[in-house]
Amino acid sequence: MTTPLPEDTSLTPPPGCPAHGLAARGLAADGLRRLYGPEAEADPMGLYEKLRAEHGEVAPVLLHGDLPAWLVLGHAANLTVMRTPSRFSRDSRRWTAFQEGLVTADSPLMPVIAWQPLCVFADGEEHRRLRGAVTDGLNRFDRRGIRRFVTRFTDLLVQEFGPTGRAELVAQFAEHLPMLVMTQVIGMPEEYGPRLVAAARDLMKGTETAIASNDYVVETLRRTIERKRVTPGSDFVSWLMQHEAGLTDDEVLEHVRVVLLAANETTVNLIADTLKLVLTDVRFRAHLSGGHMTLSDALDQVLWDAVPMSLVAGRWATGDTELGGQQIKAGDMLLLGLAAGNVDPAIRPDLSKPLYGNRSHLAFGGGPHECPGQDIGRAIAESGIDILLTRLPDLHLAVPEEELSWSSAWLSRHLVDLPVQFTPRAEPEEEPAVAAPTATLPPAPPAPPAPPAPPIGATAPRHRRSWWNALLGRFRR
Ligand code: HEM
Repeated sequence: MTTPLPEDTSLTPPPGCPAHGLAARGLAADGLRRLYGPEAEADPMGLYEKLRAEHGEVAPVLLHGDLPAWLVLGHAANLTVMRTPSRFSRDSRRWTAFQEGLVTADSPLMPVIAWQPLCVFADGEEHRRLRGAVTDGLNRFDRRGIRRFVTRFTDLLVQEFGPTGRAELVAQFAEHLPMLVMTQVIGMPEEYGPRLVAAARDLMKGTETAIASNDYVVETLRRTIERKRVTPGSDFVSWLMQHEAGLTDDEVLEHVRVVLLAANETTVNLIADTLKLVLTDVRFRAHLSGGHMTLSDALDQVLWDAVPMSLVAGRWATGDTELGGQQIKAGDMLLLGLAAGNVDPAIRPDLSKPLYGNRSHLAFGGGPHECPGQDIGRAIAESGIDILLTRLPDLHLAVPEEELSWSSAWLSRHLVDLPVQFTPRAEPEEEPAVAAPTATLPPAPPAPPAPPAPPIGATAPRHRRSWWNALLGRFRR
């Protein structure tokens, strides 16, 4: 006689865990879908649609460690969450799972959701103080100023691969341009750029050298702040230091770091996906001969259909409330489903219909935390692609479109590579190298023991983490 197997309770949360509450409301814990793991990462959009079919605008899901959260799938519901901080706070310390000790220190969620004294996690007056300084600083840059930086670095990048007639535009272009431009925005000497790009790429890829890379970023920023105290300039760091909000040196450093990392991965993705679109979509080719899609239209379409950040984690319910027909409990976590909200059938019954010029997508979030760098990110992507296409007018894909692939993590997905060909360009004779040292500037801080700073255009392993994960550095220092 065989002994009956005990009931598998490994996925059944104990009483007290918010998942227990979900189960009590008719959603058995082992019936919930996981938002992580191979299945979720293979087809995140397919998963969102299954969840929408099963639950409507707001779905219960499980995060790493099978911790429960609500995924907001509806366009309108996402806006409600983003625009109602009195009901949905940015302060992760409210999470019941934290309070009950269910999140382990090594949880992969920690880099994203562990509270830090940053505008990202602040509400109300403290958010206004910190964010006011950030937005005032960023708003002092105009598109023309950004375009000047973009032109310079695009030319330098094209100079690297132009003579070969071939390039891989994710690793040799998209992953470099935003960080190079941002070094100028924050007021760093230009020669720091390539090493900083290498460190940021390393952080995003989550390699074992990520801690050393983070240390390099922090040390570089610390030196920049010290220098700006003596010699302020027309740059973001100086403006942040002088702002009436009176940020401490640590607050300045951490906010410059957040801005750098927030700007980088999102803009890398935006450039890569828009390049892919303009190289493969006949509507863009047609525009060159008087057809339909301009570069600005292509960016809008990507911000709808290939959101640079698919999910934002998250918001936390300040009290018991209702959303999309679900009973949310105080302390529950909500994830903003930006990619899912953008294809909500309630606002887009026909996904093939172009949305040129329509900016009501969720790609930049909304409400008090709406991305303060969106104009800069868009300007980097638009000017960079525009200049690249002008320099290499016969740029075309070197592989069939079907061979392009994306890798997904729970917060975002990335185009793996974009191989292209073009008529080789002669090397200009007198352009300075991008990392040329100048006598008047202080030396770059010593490189971290790892990673080695690859030359511009070098390729690297293509498993990336979210920029939010890169914020982990604060905890590891
Ligand atoms: C172009 C690509 C970009 C996209 C798609 C993007 C998207 C986002 C999203 C979705 C958020 C979260 C909003 C929320 O929680 O409601 C965010 C926040 C933020 N972004 Fe961006 N971003 C981009 C570029 C940039 C750039 C270039 C900068 C800086 C120059 C920047 C700085 C920030 C900062 C500081 C925050 C935190 C704001 C806060 O919590 O108050 N972003 N971004």
